[in-house]
Amino acid sequence: MPLHRKSPTTTARHLVGLAVAPALLALAAAGPSAAAPPPTAEKAQAQAAQRHGGADTLRRSAPRDLVVGTAVAGGGHHEEQDYADPFAYDVEYRDRMAAEFSSLSPENQAKWEYIHPRQDFYNFYPMDAIVRFAQENRQVVRGHTLLWHSQNPEWLEEGDFTDEELRAILKEHIQTVVGRYAGRIQQWDVANEIVKDDGSGLRVGPTSEGGNIWITRLGPGIIADAFRWAHEADPQAKLFLNDYGVESVNAKSTAYYELVKDLKAEGVPVDGFAIQGHLSTQYGFPADLQANLQRFDALGLETAITELDVRMVLPEDGIPTSAQQAQQADYYRRALQACLGVEDCDSFTIWGFTDKYSWVPVFFTEEGSATVMTADYERKPAYHALQSTLLDARRGAGGR
Ligand code: G3I
Repeated sequence: MPLHRKSPTTTARHLVGLAVAPALLALAAAGPSAAAPPPTAEKAQAQAAQRHGGADTLRRSAPRDLVVGTAVAGGGHHEEQDYADPFAYDVEYRDRMAAEFSSLSPENQAKWEYIHPRQDFYNFYPMDAIVRFAQENRQVVRGHTLLWHSQNPEWLEEGDFTDEELRAILKEHIQTVVGRYAGRIQQWDVANEIVKDDGSGLRVGPTSEGGNIWITRLGPGIIADAFRWAHEADPQAKLFLNDYGVESVNAKSTAYYELVKDLKAEGVPVDGFAIQGHLSTQYGFPADLQANLQRFDALGLETAITELDVRMVLPEDGIPTSAQQAQQADYYRRALQACLGVEDCDSFTIWGFTDKYSWVPVFFTEEGSATVMTADYERKPAYHALQSTLLDARRGAGGR
């Protein structure tokens, strides 16, 4: 599989087309301690990077046109655990996040129920902190998410709004949130998980059954409007569709393929298709992942892996066997290789980097160990698989 598929010419064209100001990307690639003398906060982060691996980190191993990201733990399942907010209080966690990654995704902090908990009130503090941290550490940010069926606040789902009012609420939310961070977000997941699992159509139906309130009430045209409003609010940000269960060429991913063609034909500013990548070793690896990314690339879209993790059914003692670890490493490696093998797959994000904060054991009773580091931040074989694959790509074994 060609890991490095760009000629110098295509690389230059490719960089011009990237989501964010080229200067921002160059900074992200350079790492926490690169370039001019940093201000105090950056110096501290650079020192942290040294303490936790120095140059031996994922972001420093990556080819220059690929950002390597993680979800930033906070909100959601974390609120049910017996620890304080990881991003706010866990210094080692923050240090490692700065050292290892060049892209950050708010795990829950920019979702409606967090950032817009009351109709007349936005809580920007957690997301502001992430964006500030990213700037201090020369990282880009993926915004997640604007139009989704899940994690919507009660005032919205239980509210007695007319269709006209609902439309105005969505428009105002998108303009406010996207506008606030304009110029500082590389990619936005504008529409998240909008297709039914069997690929039979959009998520239309009661919210109690997983229906998307926006599409159900306002019709499918609201998807195009959401992209247009987001584009107006931040013309620089690249705007994505994002979903799980679309790793392979299957009914669900094909539904997106057809949707994208329609949106593009209408001139809707949709820039990318993102595959989340919540995998489990109890199922086979989606061997056609690269081919699937490639068909969206061929439509002129950017692609991304946005939420990769690889869970496993744990033995009774809770410790993965070496065979399980090897299989997990293989899945991580192949997912990364698939992205590297596609020209405009420029963003590769894992959904958390330490088992300490993973969502997996909370959702899947017998599964766990899904991330690339143990709860004590020990690097697993999966970490090394990612790192060696990134280094191969960076060294030009194929020349990305
Ligand atoms: O809303 C309920 C609330 O009513 C209840 O009182 C409370 C107590 O149990 O739980 C609340 O739900 C929590 C939810 O976040 C909303 O905050 C869930 O328990 C909690 O497990 C959930 O976690 C988040 C999940 O999204 C929600 O779908 C995870 O932290 C987060 O990692 C996960 O991330 C998603 C991506 O956004 C989209 N793709 C899939 C990915 C993994 O599920």
